[in-house]
Amino acid sequence: MAAPGRLIAIEGGEGAGKSTQAARLAALLGAELTREPGGTPLGEEVRRLLLDPVFAPLGDRTELMLMLAARAQHLAERIEPALSAGRTVVVDRFQGSTLAYQGYGRGLPLEEVRLACRLAAGGRDADLNVLVDVPVALGTSRRTAAPDRIEAADGGFHERVRRGFLAEAGADPQHWLVVDGSGPPGQVAKVIAAGVRHRLERGAARLS
Ligand SMILES: Nc1ncnc2c1ncn2[C@@H]1O[C@H](COP(=O)(O)OP(=O)(O)OP(=O)(O)O)[C@@H](O)[C@H]1O
Ligand SMILES: [Mg+2]
Repeated sequence: MAAPGRLIAIEGGEGAGKSTQAARLAALLGAELTREPGGTPLGEEVRRLLLDPVFAPLGDRTELMLMLAARAQHLAERIEPALSAGRTVVVDRFQGSTLAYQGYGRGLPLEEVRLACRLAAGGRDADLNVLVDVPVALGTSRRTAAPDRIEAADGGFHERVRRGFLAEAGADPQHWLVVDGSGPPGQVAKVIAAGVRHRLERGAARLS
């Protein structure tokens, strides 16, 4: 049987460059690339519901539960089978985003959000989270389309999300790598590649 693969999450606020960097890292590692919310037919449908401004205002707990329903399906249908087959999976947002957005951002009690995440994911979390960090204004300035329901939240929300990511990363440096995302994409990609390689080379024990 293959050794289990690693789950690497690319995290950060709006327009940080997560999708750009997730694609580059997955290509570099020959890993499976997927995203949240989404990654399965049901998850992509839930994503559409979550981001559609027509549903504003959506209850904070409704938002949390929809995110986690999509995650449970994503794990069952896609992530766990890939990891069991020994594949590395790069996911564009995962549990860190739930803590940052629904916990720190929306203000749901953090320990409740953590518990709900554990329930939805059967205890699975990323082996490594890469936080692509940019100032909120820089992320917003990179937006090219009309804001979706979550992007449209006020600046205070997005500042709390950023501080939340930094707090989570600061509290658990073994599972988080913080990268400045304000430089050009190629430069950010190099820093991520070097950091991830370093962590992977330090071995399974340190990453699990
Ligand atoms: N380092 C960078 N410097 C300048 N522009 C960038 C950089 N990285 C990505 N971009 C551009 O900024 C926009 C947002 O990038 P991307 O979609 O990768 O971010 P994201 O974090 O996935 O955003 P979202 O939160 O909307 O999912 C895109 O148009 C992308 O081409
Ligand atoms: Mg993206």
